[in-house]
Formats: sequence, C-alpha cells, structure tokens
Amino acid sequence: MNFDEIKKRYNKKISEILKHNKNYYDKNSPIISDKDYDELKKEILDLEKKYNFLASDDSPSKIVGFKPSKNFKKVKHKVSMLSLSNAFNEEDLINFEKRVINFLDKKDDLEIEYSAEPKIDGISASLFYKNGKFITGLSRGDGKEGEDITENLKTIKDIPLKIDAKNFPQEIDIRGEVFIQNSDFKNLSDKFANPRNAASGSLRQKNPNETKKIPLRFIAYTYGYEKNMKMNSQSEYLKNLKKWGFVTNPLNKTIVGIKNLLKNYLEVEKKRDQLDFDIDGIVYKVNDFKLQKRLGNVANAPRWAIAHKFSSTKGVSNIIDIDIQIGRTGALTPVAKIKPINIGGVIVSNATLHNEDEINRKDIRVGDTVIIERAGDVIPHIISVDLNKRQKNSEKFVFPKKCPSCGSETIKEYNLTTKKKDSVRRCSSEGFKCEKISIEKIKHFVSKDAFNIEGFGKKIVENFWNLQLVQFPQDIFKLDYLKIENLDGWGRQSVANLKYSIDLRKKISFERFIFALGIRHIGLENAKLLAKNLKSFKNFINLSKSKNFSELLNIDGIGETQINSIKSFFSNQENIKVLSELSKIISINKKTETKKDGPLKNKNFMLTGKLENMSRAEAKSLIEQNSGNIISNISKKLDYLIIGDKPTKRKIDSAKELNIKILNQSDWLKMLNKTS
Ligand code: IVH
Repeated sequence: MNFDEIKKRYNKKISEILKHNKNYYDKNSPIISDKDYDELKKEILDLEKKYNFLASDDSPSKIVGFKPSKNFKKVKHKVSMLSLSNAFNEEDLINFEKRVINFLDKKDDLEIEYSAEPKIDGISASLFYKNGKFITGLSRGDGKEGEDITENLKTIKDIPLKIDAKNFPQEIDIRGEVFIQNSDFKNLSDKFANPRNAASGSLRQKNPNETKKIPLRFIAYTYGYEKNMKMNSQSEYLKNLKKWGFVTNPLNKTIVGIKNLLKNYLEVEKKRDQLDFDIDGIVYKVNDFKLQKRLGNVANAPRWAIAHKFSSTKGVSNIIDIDIQIGRTGALTPVAKIKPINIGGVIVSNATLHNEDEINRKDIRVGDTVIIERAGDVIPHIISVDLNKRQKNSEKFVFPKKCPSCGSETIKEYNLTTKKKDSVRRCSSEGFKCEKISIEKIKHFVSKDAFNIEGFGKKIVENFWNLQLVQFPQDIFKLDYLKIENLDGWGRQSVANLKYSIDLRKKISFERFIFALGIRHIGLENAKLLAKNLKSFKNFINLSKSKNFSELLNIDGIGETQINSIKSFFSNQENIKVLSELSKIISINKKTETKKDGPLKNKNFMLTGKLENMSRAEAKSLIEQNSGNIISNISKKLDYLIIGDKPTKRKIDSAKELNIKILNQSDWLKMLNKTS
C-alpha cells in the first residue's frame, strides 16, 4: 500500500467508527456487535501505531464516546472520563502486568494487587458532591464534556442526595454505571432493543418524570475530581462507597496474581447468565492509589487498569434462508438459516425467529445482515436488522398460508385467555394427517414424561418414520425387530435393548398415558388432574361416546380451552383408532403416581406469585406427590395460600378475609421437611 492508499483506508475506518459511535451513543441503537466494534477500534489503533503520520481528531485514541446531544446543557468534566484498554486472553494480561512493572521499574517477580470488578454494560455517569450534597450529574459525553442530566439522575433511588459521613470528601465526582436489571427490562422490551439502550434512552430523555418511571440502578466504582479524599486504595474506596450509601458490585474482589485473576474470570463468566444485569468483562485496577498516580494515563485510558472482556455473545451474519418448522401442535416456527459464525466459541448456523408477528415486527428478510445473540443455553435469536446493508431488490418475507408439510390451511387462533389472536400460526390439519406433526407427536409419545422409552430418541423416530416402521403410536409396540436388526447402525444387542425398553412400558400410569397423547393444552399437570378425576381409561373413552365433556368443567384447573381441545381430539377418527389400538396392547394403571399418606394429606393449597427456583408445575406436583390438593378458587375449602414473588394482592386480601393461612415458600417447604 502506498501513502494515499493507507490514508484512504484509515479515513474509511474512521468514518465507519464515527457512524457507529453515533448509532451507539446518540441514537442508542447500535447496528454492529460489540465484538466487531472492538475489532474496528483495534484496526484503527494498529494502523496509527504502524504509520505515525495517521491522525484524526475522531480517532478512538483521542475521543471517548460521542459528543453530547443538544437536548442538554454541556458541562466540562473537571477530570476527563477515560476509556479502558481491553485484554482478550491470558497473554494480554501478562503483557499488561509487564508494562505496569516496567513502568514502575520494579522487579519482575513483584506481585501486584488488583481490584477485580465485573464490568457492567450500562451508561457511565459522574456525580458531583459538594459538602455532602449532590449538586450536578453528568453523562460521559465525549469524555471531556458531558450532558447535564442531574434531574434525571436524581430520580434514581441508588443515588444518595445527601451524605453525612465524616470522611466523605469535601468535594468529589463519584463515578459509576447507570443500568437497568434484566428482570425490569422485560417490561420494556417492546420499546428498546436491549437493557443498555433502555438505560441510555431513559437517562437521556428530556422529561425527568419519564425517567422516574424506569427502574434505573446505579453502581459506583471510581471517582474523578476530588478535594480532601483520604484513601489509600481502590478496595478501601469501594468499602467507603458502601458506607456512604452507594451500591457497589457484590462481585468485586481484591486479587493478587494473574493466575487468580483468571480463576475469578472463569468463575464470574460461569455465573454470567444468572446475573440480573449484563456484564461484558472484568475490570482489573492496580489497587494501590499511590501506584495508580505514578502510572497515570496513556492517551485516553489509564495505565493502571484494563478490561478483560468475555467472549462475545453477539455476532453479525447474513440470512441465507427462512425455514418453517412444524411442531407437535401444528405451530409454524420460522427459523433463520444464517451464514455460520462463531459466537463465543460456538458455531451458530440457525437462529429462531419465534413466530410470524416477530418477523413482521422486525421486518426480517432473506438476505438481510443481522445481529445475532447467543446467551447461555438459550436458542440463538436475531436482535436487529442492519437496514443500511439491505439489498435493493430484497422482498418482504411472506409467511406461508398453507402448511409446508401437508398443504392444509394455516390459521391464527383466537386465544380465550388473552382475548387476542395468537401470534403463532398453525397447521389446521387434525390427527395424523400432517407428516411433520405426526413425527413430532411420536417423539412426544416416547419422551421422558410420557412413555419414557429409553433409547428411542428423536433421530430414531425420524429414521423409523422414513422407513415406514412407525406412523402411529401403536406401531411402536408392533415393530418389526428383524428388519431393524438389519438396518445400518443396529445389531442384535441394540435391538434387544430397544425391545426391552419398549416392553417395559406396556404397563403405564393413566396420567402418563393421557399426557403422551399430546392433546393440545393438556400438559403434565392437566393430564394428572384428568387421570385423578376420570379414574379409568374406560371413563376417558366414554367421554367421547357420551359427548358429555362439560362434566370436566367440575375439575379444578380444567377450563374451556382444555375442554375444547379434548373435544376436538375425540372428534377425529384417527385419534379414536389410536386409542382403541393402544388399549389392546398396553395396560393402563389406574393409580396416579402420588403418595397416599403424605404430609399434606387432605389439605387444599393455592399458589400465587413466582416461587424461587421452582416452576409452578413443579410446585403443583410436589403438593400432589405429598397427598395435597391444588384448587384454583379462593373459598372456605382452601387451607393454605402459598405466596411467591409479586403475588396477586386480590388473592391475599380474600384469603385474609376468610382467615386462610398464608405461607411463604420456606414455610411451605418446611411442611414437606424441605428447605429452599
Ligand atoms: S473504571 C478510568 N470500573 O467501562 C477507568 N469502569 O470502557 C474507567 N465500566 O466508561 C472507569 N464497570 O462505563 C470502571 N468497575 C468499573 C466499570 C467500568 C463498567 C465501564 C465504564 C467506563 C467503561 C470503560
């Protein structure tokens, strides 16, 4: 490359990063992943290092963030708000420590103490206090000049307005991160792309009354200008922040040695999914303030700190195609086939698009460039579309009006509970007419909570279906084992094992049997309720004969939605045939799988609110396994109301009126001799 070419390349990268800065800091709507942004930044810094004639006032080596928005008064920071340099691996960390030791002219074997602080992905703010009073609050802006967002910051409960502590400095800029917890973000997710944008958007709006409505949080971690602060280290400062009434990160640690930094990094990364706030790495700060002062800054980052980034959970890719998958209940789920990308060490080539409404809302099209997120075990999904990169000839995706598997009409049902049309479109075929639905029904039939046939996995179901060995559930019990023995991958022993697992399940409990049928809206809990009330398979079959479905309404927990679904199940001749064939082969045990004399015998329970570490279904079955009953209306029959997080107030009030005992989760678990 000659001089002009290098300059041209550099300027192109600078204008690119300027565009991304504007999108990220000003519009709160990034169009590239953090990882790609970091890469772009590194490319620019590398070019500058290699060719010292390259310079731009807009370079990330000179500026931080983006110039303040016009909505607010601009105020200069007395001490600049800096950025942090990044480390991505052990080698980067070793080099960082070497630089520190060389700069301080210390011996190589010196062990430096660090404050290790999870790096919250929010918006930084600087709060100026004079004589213990909160005076002005600024956003970071471009690092030199921020926006005066005092009134908005005052609405945040974590920010103390007055501090009386004796050792609180006469003047100080307390700095930290404003963010929103993921659990609070859930209620705002239709307005903002992610928690960070929600925090930024609500913090930088004109009207503080609007900010007040958003549950913003503040975690303090550093300071800017100060007068009369008598602290010796970052860990001492963090301790005092807490005493002064600020919130600090509970995962902060003081650590010596790179090995221990790495150990802590891995531990925190493991917990990352369970935290209620997003973190994108860990910040390591040389703990001793004297050493920090000596080390000082390079360009726009301190020499005494580094951010050890976690592997990214986001990436950018292209949609090659949109596939429609069909589930057991006929739901059509769109899946984006994307150009494979590595996100945090995992190759991702599919991303769920949830349903038709989601595609329309985000206007996702084949050929689009999209940001994909893969967090923990959650299925990768699309966060946003980069409209700037959309091809001119791109066409809106038309969701199929006919089932791609069987050609039946697809429909959106009216949901009785939400009183709205479903966002999910379904194949309208019944019984076993649709091939894809049938395969999924059989997979469900053999699954763990249903017939639990060991060794009969999803791949085997698909394989046997293709070979026409199974088309209906009853075929499982009439398999041609000789034929299977000759198939690729099978042998005498594996066939014997399969036969053993199948024969073992020729005896089954009534509730498992009902669940295995895969009737829509009849999950495990409802299957149990039906089994318990109907008592026998004969009564179940008679339902269809007598057409007396409304008697099911007497069962607590069974409503109109479930009854309509059972009706439609019995109105299909194929289903009736499956039932009659199965009844010839298997024996259905009347007993439900519960203890007769459990500690909750003859007691009626009701649940409200979310329990800790336990789903509603699990709580219900725990009650039933211990001989208790679940009822769904508050009446004198009710013995206990169990309350979790965010219970329904009305239920508590009615329970109190009727003198019904109210239990929290741990009281209830004590009744079962369990602790939470
Ligand atoms: S120290 C001068 N500590 O990371 C050192 N920053 O890329 C800079 N951040 O602007 C601040 N957690 O928004 C520091 N425990 C922490 C942090 C933290 C998150 C953010 C902050 C800062 C950015 C630097």
